[in-house]
Amino acid sequence: MRVLVADPLDEAGLERLRQGGVELDVRTGLPRATLLSRIGEYEAVIVRSETRIDAEVVEAGRRLAVIGRAGVGVDNIDVEAATRRGIVVVNAPEANTISAAEHTLAMMLAVARRIPWAHHALAQERRWERRRFVGVQLAGKTLGLVGLGRIGSEVARRARAFGMHVLAYDPYVVPERAAETGVELVELEDLLGRSDFISIHCPLTARTRHLIDAERLRRVRPGAYLVNCARGGIVDEAALAEALREGRLAGAALDVFAEEPPGDNPLLGLPNVVVTPHLGASTQEAQSAAALAVAEEVLRVLAGDVPRHA
Ligand code: NAD
Ligand code: MLT
Repeated sequence: MRVLVADPLDEAGLERLRQGGVELDVRTGLPRATLLSRIGEYEAVIVRSETRIDAEVVEAGRRLAVIGRAGVGVDNIDVEAATRRGIVVVNAPEANTISAAEHTLAMMLAVARRIPWAHHALAQERRWERRRFVGVQLAGKTLGLVGLGRIGSEVARRARAFGMHVLAYDPYVVPERAAETGVELVELEDLLGRSDFISIHCPLTARTRHLIDAERLRRVRPGAYLVNCARGGIVDEAALAEALREGRLAGAALDVFAEEPPGDNPLLGLPNVVVTPHLGASTQEAQSAAALAVAEEVLRVLAGDVPRHA
């Protein structure tokens, strides 16, 4: 059995695959034409978010039995096309939950307390400007979560420890389950109007693309902050940039972008936006857990067993 590892994968996962007796081919950053011409040689391919496994790649993967995603979001994989061809898509949905939740809190605090700008002024420009960097507290504020799954629930738990009131919009969660984590389940429009901080934690699907568009951004409480550590495509970036320029939003903290890397995205130049390059899962713990989990799943499918998460 031959396994192509097309994006960087932690050594823990590579080691597990070698132990599993497969022939491993680690080729990251392959040009698309090379991927299309070589994918037919493998029984399995493992990616993170960089490599797009669309219908054309699925079609070219004549021997593929399994596509592994070392992480949560499978929006870079055409799952329908794979399913039609009987190819199993597996991921590692639990491996980076805590890291992504912690990164979300870090981003929320960074934008609320203006840490990146204060750091830049002092460390790069040797300016000691205490009055310029007055922020806002999290305690006593309302946080609105769009998506109350694994990461949303962990963010809720941490936000409550900071003394925040937590709302959530999630059409697939019942109020009783939300109440167990001390969260009030509301409709999206209600959440937008009541939240001081809005944080996105749903997957990118056809239904959630531009879920937060110009119209919805107009309903956001004036002076609120938007945090997105889920997927860039869920927010209309042009509309967000306009809301930030007009001062309707106080700030935004973004880990993800519609196009990655984002190139000359107008959001990058704004003075009230904190950005990180898709680092939500970038901890040693999350990377080794995701690599190990996806390796186990791929080996399970190649052995003819049912995967734990598909
Ligand atoms: P999850 O499946 O546990 O939770 C997602 C939740 O979103 C579910 O409860 C689901 O019901 C809800 N949802 C689905 N459609 C919705 C809609 N239209 N409106 C509101 N809620 C909706 O997934 P998770 O582990 O919490 O991860 C969420 C997303 O975060 C992933 O899909 C991935 O794209 C992203 N993510 C990003 C990073 C990063 O590095 N920045 C790391 C991990 C995950
Ligand atoms: C995920 O969906 O798990 C995240 O995007 C993290 C990643 O793949 O780096």
